[in-house]
Amino acid sequence: MRLDRLVGKWVGIGKRRTRELFEAGRVRFNGEVVAEGGVAVGTFDRVEVDGKILQERVPRYVILNKPAGVVSATVDEEHTTVISLIDVEWAGELHLAGRLDRFTTGLVVLTNDSRYSEWLTLPGSKVGKVYLVEVDGGIGEEVVAAFQKGVVFEKEGITTAPAKVELLASNRCRLTIYEGKHHQVKRMFARFELKVVSLHREAMGDLRLPDDLEGGAWREFRPRIPTFLGSQT
Ligand code: URA
Repeated sequence: MRLDRLVGKWVGIGKRRTRELFEAGRVRFNGEVVAEGGVAVGTFDRVEVDGKILQERVPRYVILNKPAGVVSATVDEEHTTVISLIDVEWAGELHLAGRLDRFTTGLVVLTNDSRYSEWLTLPGSKVGKVYLVEVDGGIGEEVVAAFQKGVVFEKEGITTAPAKVELLASNRCRLTIYEGKHHQVKRMFARFELKVVSLHREAMGDLRLPDDLEGGAWREFRPRIPTFLGSQT
C-alpha cells in the first residue's frame, strides 16, 4: 500500500492533513525524511511520524534441525511443536516454510517473510528438497525410472514433477523433489509397495542443514534472496 494512505490510516487523519505531515518533513521512511507519500510500503519498511515508530519489523530467517516426534505446527495440544523449540520473544511471528511429518527429521525453515517462504515452497520456484530415505525393501530400477519421470497420484489426478534419485544402498537413496505435496515421499514409495522407515531432510535448494546443528537446535541465517524478490530490509 502507498505510504500516505498508511500514514493517514495509522495516525487517523484525512488526506489534506496527511499531505501537510509530509510537506512539513515529519514523516521518515527507512530513516529518510520523505516529502511525498507515493512510495509503496513493504512489510519490513520502517515508518516514523515525529519520531514515533508506526511500523518496524525485522525480517527473521531460522533454520532448525527437527527431531523425530516434534510436529511442524505453531500450536499443538499434545506434542512439542517446532515453534516451542525457539525460545525467543519473536518466535510467535514465525511461520513454517514447508512442513515435515512428525517422525521426519532434519531441515525446517521458519520465517516471518512470506515472500521468502512462498518462493522456497512453491513448485514454480523449482527449489529442490533433498531427502535421505530408507525403505523396507530394494529400490529397483523401475522405481528410479518412475521417480525421474513422475509418479501418478490417482486420487488427486496429478503427476509428481520429475525427481532426482541417487542410490546409496539397495534400500537407501538421496531423493530430490521439487514440490511438497502431503506425505509426498512416502506416497511415491508406497506406489511401489515400499514403506519409508527413515526420512531426513538435508537441504532445500542451496540451504543445507549444518553438520554442527544438533537435533532440536536452531539458528538464524541470512538467506540468499533471489533478485526478483528484491531486498526486504
Ligand atoms: N514427504 C513425506 O512423506 N514426509 C515428509 O515429512 C516430507 C516429505
